[in-house]
Amino acid sequence: MSDKVYRVCEPFLNGNETKYVMDAVSTGWISSSGSYVTRFEEEFARYCDVKHGIAVCNGTVALHLAMAALGIGKGDEVIIPSFTMIATAFAVCYTGAMPVFVDADKDTWNIDVTKIEEKITPKTKAIIPVHVFGNPCNMDAIADIAKKHKLFIVEDAAEAHGATYKGRKVGSFSDIACFSFFANKNVTTGEGGMCVTNDDKYDDLCRYYKNVCFPTNGPRNYLHDDIGFNYRMSNLHAALGLAQTEKADEYKKMRMTNHNLYKKYLSDVPGVIFQKDEDNSENVGWMNTIVIDPAKYGHTRDELIAHLKENKIDTRLLFKSMHIQPSLIKYGCNCSGEYPVTEWLSENGFYLPSASNLTEDDIAYICGIIEKFAN
Ligand SMILES: Cc1ncc(COP(=O)(O)O)c(C=O)c1O
Repeated sequence: MSDKVYRVCEPFLNGNETKYVMDAVSTGWISSSGSYVTRFEEEFARYCDVKHGIAVCNGTVALHLAMAALGIGKGDEVIIPSFTMIATAFAVCYTGAMPVFVDADKDTWNIDVTKIEEKITPKTKAIIPVHVFGNPCNMDAIADIAKKHKLFIVEDAAEAHGATYKGRKVGSFSDIACFSFFANKNVTTGEGGMCVTNDDKYDDLCRYYKNVCFPTNGPRNYLHDDIGFNYRMSNLHAALGLAQTEKADEYKKMRMTNHNLYKKYLSDVPGVIFQKDEDNSENVGWMNTIVIDPAKYGHTRDELIAHLKENKIDTRLLFKSMHIQPSLIKYGCNCSGEYPVTEWLSENGFYLPSASNLTEDDIAYICGIIEKFAN
């Protein structure tokens, strides 16, 4: 057995992080007023091929800010996938609106675009497609539906920094798109998030709401016309973010190399299922996720997880479906209906170690253990 402990993920900070953070510290610019915030916003927006970036303190509030800027509120409905992290749903709830769930596609694990229209009502205002694990959604189909029903699109690109659909970066397909820079993300600030948009009006509104509704132009007279939030990102976090964005393509390449190695080493193991890339897209391999078919693999997902743990290989369970979340049931969401793909993913899937700097030897070792355990 190897002595090494394989964590599910760890940040990879091999660029200008220390230099920029120390600069922020030594100059005393540690709040949100420092120049790294603007530099990070500009650099990350450029990386996404969009006009504006608005840095905030995490991906959850980025989603809430997007909802607020679009004027979504009580009485509105917003379509989200049932297979997502809870933040997608909570961001809708913070506004008083109702999240409405759509099951996942059994191959791509993204929102099933064939099931969106049946959930649209006169109250529907927006769709939040989530690029699950870095796999871009079918944005053509989503754009057609949004256009037909006059809905906003807010991409939840929390897991998909630099992914492309038909050669275009994710984040550029929506009214406002949202990213997370949590420590396990391909580009990280520890905690952090960003809204990106091509629309000057939404840029202005996001900046207004994120900074307690201080006017974005003109003098501060400490009269606030609306109820806003303090969602500002600090200059220290932005210093990390700028350094990470300078290396974003390098990290994407490392994660995708690892993703392809996992596929190569496990492709012949019966009962190990991978997410299918969306057509005409480029995934970013955020988390290497497999689903176990126990009948073919010979063990259940939980037996395999326990075996990996004995071998010091850490794993993580997948999200549970939105329709069984006690919080959302209490909130009053319509949680009836069937979500078989999401349930199948939650019950049989898990994350394998996915840090950017895993080596081919690491992945061969982990896959060897999975392969030998198969019956
Ligand atoms: C799909 C999705 N949306 C939103 C978030 C929320 O981001 P944060 O943890 O930065 O608040 C995450 C976090 O991992 C996520 O995976």
